Amino acid sequence: MERTYYNGLLRESNVNENVTLLGWVAKKRNFGSLVFIDLRDRTGITQIVCKEDLSEVTSKIRNEYVLEVKGVVKVREQKNPNLPTGDIEVIASEVKIINTADTTPIIIADQTDALEDTRLKYRYLDLRRPIMQQKIIERHNIVKAMRNFLDDEGFIEIETPLLGKTTPEGARDYLVPSRVNPGKFYALPQSPQLYKQLLMISGFEKYYQVARCFRDEDLRSDRQPDFTQLDIEMSFMDEKQITDLMERLFQTMFKKVKGYELKLPIRRIGFKEALATYGSDKPDTRFGYELCDITSAFKETEFAIVKSVLEQNGTVRALNAKNLSSSLSRKDIDSYTLLAKKYHAKGLMWMRYVNDNFEGPMAKNLKTEELAAIKEIANAENNDLIFAVSDISFETACNSLGAIRSSLGKRFAADKLVGFDLLWVTDFPMFEWNYDDLRYEPSHHPFTRPYEEDIKYLDSDPGRVRSHHYDLVLNGYELGSGSLRIYDEALQKKIFEICGLSEEQIRNKFGFFIDAFHYGTPPHGGVAFGIDRIAMILTNSESIRDVIAFPKNASGVCPMSEAPTFVDEKQLSDLHLEVKL
Ligand code: AMO
Repeated sequence: MERTYYNGLLRESNVNENVTLLGWVAKKRNFGSLVFIDLRDRTGITQIVCKEDLSEVTSKIRNEYVLEVKGVVKVREQKNPNLPTGDIEVIASEVKIINTADTTPIIIADQTDALEDTRLKYRYLDLRRPIMQQKIIERHNIVKAMRNFLDDEGFIEIETPLLGKTTPEGARDYLVPSRVNPGKFYALPQSPQLYKQLLMISGFEKYYQVARCFRDEDLRSDRQPDFTQLDIEMSFMDEKQITDLMERLFQTMFKKVKGYELKLPIRRIGFKEALATYGSDKPDTRFGYELCDITSAFKETEFAIVKSVLEQNGTVRALNAKNLSSSLSRKDIDSYTLLAKKYHAKGLMWMRYVNDNFEGPMAKNLKTEELAAIKEIANAENNDLIFAVSDISFETACNSLGAIRSSLGKRFAADKLVGFDLLWVTDFPMFEWNYDDLRYEPSHHPFTRPYEEDIKYLDSDPGRVRSHHYDLVLNGYELGSGSLRIYDEALQKKIFEICGLSEEQIRNKFGFFIDAFHYGTPPHGGVAFGIDRIAMILTNSESIRDVIAFPKNASGVCPMSEAPTFVDEKQLSDLHLEVKL
């Protein structure tokens, strides 16, 4: 089949050329003696005009048939300014049906009202929709731009195993039973973290990988059980050198893919400030509804709930829903209370400021001076609504209000949610307290290097230790996370111990890794960016499922192949497994 042009690329400059086109029938219109066919391929469509002499074949043609068309390019009498090929049409001399098609269960067009599960069941047709093709092609362009940049900077792409040992990224592992080692399991990598550090010990110095990662965690619109990271590691670089290089990577990618000039340096915001101001360690700073600290208003409070929190060194944080009192019903407030509780707040206090006065349950419990202080700090004006959370944990108070802030932003500040809001969040604490297991766990992972000046608190007050951990955030999504790594064996062991691992557990889980530290470990650090998330935001998609060719649905199922499925007895017994349901 000798195609001369792709359908979307023909222009007036091609007029009078004889062409051979290939593609799918997007639309057929019958005008008696003339039949018009829109022939589609991944570049777009061209209008084909078939005269009466072709009626035998055109009468058989239906939507989505695959055709080969020969003809000559002519200027259209009635041009279509909405179509790149709208100035021309092809007068067919020969039309061949290469293949037929049944009526498709979803319409092959940008707009669709098909349910997502139907789209996923017939994903190969869903992916035929031009808008989906553009998204997948843009994803390809993103990855290509990143690969080219890293290649130019001297990075080497190295693949690491999918069948490996569990990695400590905090989610559950997907396990793969080993047939030849009865009772033993591989774990699919949650990330190539340990391997990339080992590659630094090997001396590769600058590594990257477009790496498939697997995490068994609750799914959300920005999470898939298998997803892709751009994983990077480098030696002999400090935090600034690494983040500067990554900024240039993003600048180059934005320019190549979106024609967008990203201004450097990318803004940095400390973890504490991000939480205190936006209630999130991945803040979207494009809209207001910022948080404030109203603890000082309660110095002498008799309001029992707050009093007991402050006696335990807690905090009271507030969010002023500016000018939204009349827009937020009691029902809305109830749903925000549930949302705050989902983020572990014990409750949500609220009051309205109307007719120059505070009204509502919170106001009833407070003294005039307390209300006056809150008015001042939160800058309350008529038609404002104040939400507040008091908690012994600064993180809980901020995060629960941050969830409300995000929701308010989506509902009431949609006009501000445009452009790219890219920032680094830095100065993370090394550990967070796990309230369920009553122990510290690493905020990032146990290989993150603590700040030199905070190492002295490791024994006495681990919660105070900050680390060289940096996250890249775009429009309220965590795009990537990285850190400088520990390269000292004793310090690495100490961190494992603080996380509650015994000597034996350290040996069993990480023995091979710790051993490598004996043989000359260079200072190193790295980062991993979620490619699906980057593609989701850059293509204006609602979910990462839209930029993954064959994703799982929200229940972790692939409606097309129906994976995961039961397997037969023979397969199980080969693997020495028995299923208990
Ligand atoms: P982290 O666990 O923060 O860091 O992951 C890095 C980035 O990967 C993306 N990501 C996901 N994308 C889609 N679905 C998921 N389930 C999912 N989980 C994570 C996010 C996230 O920012 N080894 C470290 C990196 C390092 O230290 O170099 C790591 O994996 O965009």
